[in-house]
Amino acid sequence: MWAGRFTKQIDERVNDFNSSIKFDSRMYKSDIEGSIAHAAMLGEKGIIEKSESEKIIEGLRAILEDIENGRLQFDPAAEDIHMFIEAELTKRIGSAGKRLHTARSRNDQVALDIRLCLRDEIKEIRAMCIELVRTIAETAEKNLETVMPGYTHMQRAQPITFAHHIMAYAQMLLRDIGRLDDTAKRMNVLPLGSCALAGTTYDIDREMVSSLLGFDGVAENSLDGVSDRDFCIELASAISLIMMHLSRFSEEIILWCSWEFKFIELDDAYATGSSIMPQKKNPDVTELIRGKTGRVYGDLNTLLTMMKGIPLAYNKDMQEDKEAIFDAVDTVKLCLKTFIPMLETMTVIPENMRAAAAKGFINATDCADYLVKKGMPFRDAYKATGTLVHICIEKGVTLETLELSEYKKICDKFDEDVFEAISLDTCVMQRASRGGPAPKAVAEQIKLLKNKLSEIS
Ligand code: ARG
Repeated sequence: MWAGRFTKQIDERVNDFNSSIKFDSRMYKSDIEGSIAHAAMLGEKGIIEKSESEKIIEGLRAILEDIENGRLQFDPAAEDIHMFIEAELTKRIGSAGKRLHTARSRNDQVALDIRLCLRDEIKEIRAMCIELVRTIAETAEKNLETVMPGYTHMQRAQPITFAHHIMAYAQMLLRDIGRLDDTAKRMNVLPLGSCALAGTTYDIDREMVSSLLGFDGVAENSLDGVSDRDFCIELASAISLIMMHLSRFSEEIILWCSWEFKFIELDDAYATGSSIMPQKKNPDVTELIRGKTGRVYGDLNTLLTMMKGIPLAYNKDMQEDKEAIFDAVDTVKLCLKTFIPMLETMTVIPENMRAAAAKGFINATDCADYLVKKGMPFRDAYKATGTLVHICIEKGVTLETLELSEYKKICDKFDEDVFEAISLDTCVMQRASRGGPAPKAVAEQIKLLKNKLSEIS
């Protein structure tokens, strides 16, 4: 490929070290798609003969077909996918193949290929996120009245419902989808035509290539065009957030399916056993997701660190972008693919959630609010209720089972109706503020979410 300048063959070790075909061959389709658009433009502009352009395009289409049919294997000794396809083309169609690289460099070619490739990957990840949001909404609809404790500091805090709890994750994922969309939009700019770094003397038509490939515009600075990897970092960051959300959800599922909670039971098909302890049913899927989140953060860190010290324009360091971003992409897809059916098939155990909500004085705020509604300032009501909780703990009872006479000793505003006011169901029903856990508030939240989903799907 570098014939002319060099007098020696490359050292085999350097060739292995330098080669990226092991991890960039997956971009073969983008590479061919980009080359077809480039060749069409070269022919249209008369930079190469029309007949040559057609020959190149035909040759590239045949290569694509052969790769997809398994008739053409990647050569592991090739330097990268770009070199491999160009060499194969020339092998097949002769000298016309040697004209494809006119007014182009591998620097703008690789920048183009990654964008084309990631554009498709984003569509897939996005579709999976939408599917997960739908699954959450469907599970929530079935659990509008499933009362459970809401926690702060992992201490029972106030009563909520399971629907309310999991819908929080649907909201996170909606933001994730928004971030994927932002990334895709900013990424959708054509770098081709930047050439090695300084554009070209040929009269190329970048707008034509841009519209052939479905870009929204062209990179306005050729140095930036070849050396920008912001889009990889943005995507890795969007994926890191998805992973963080999946990991938090996973952590909760791990807790919920423990014997200490038993709020849910995983389907047998989505749990694993132990090689020694016959009683075990382990939530391996969720633990792996939690574990793989660190790996994706690592990918993001790799990209950030790789970019921070490299001067303009292209430097070989940037070849390291692909393993990191493809690993992040593959990992999040793998996690979503498993997480969705796991969530779909898990069984909710409402009795256990309710039993946990009945303990831990999670209606204490409501007890204080009862006094506030009878005219007492909140701080005084807070103190009175705190005293009642203290008495309950000493007596080994709950606010629901404490005698009214005891209530009256602390404050004469208490009446028989306090028991209705602090019942779990009342506590949940009364929290009907927008975004709150009352079944009708959560139903409204689900309705809005579904409208949003149909807008964005
Ligand atoms: N395999 C290279 C990469 O992934 C392609 C670009 C090579 N350009 C160059 N001037 N060596 O970055």
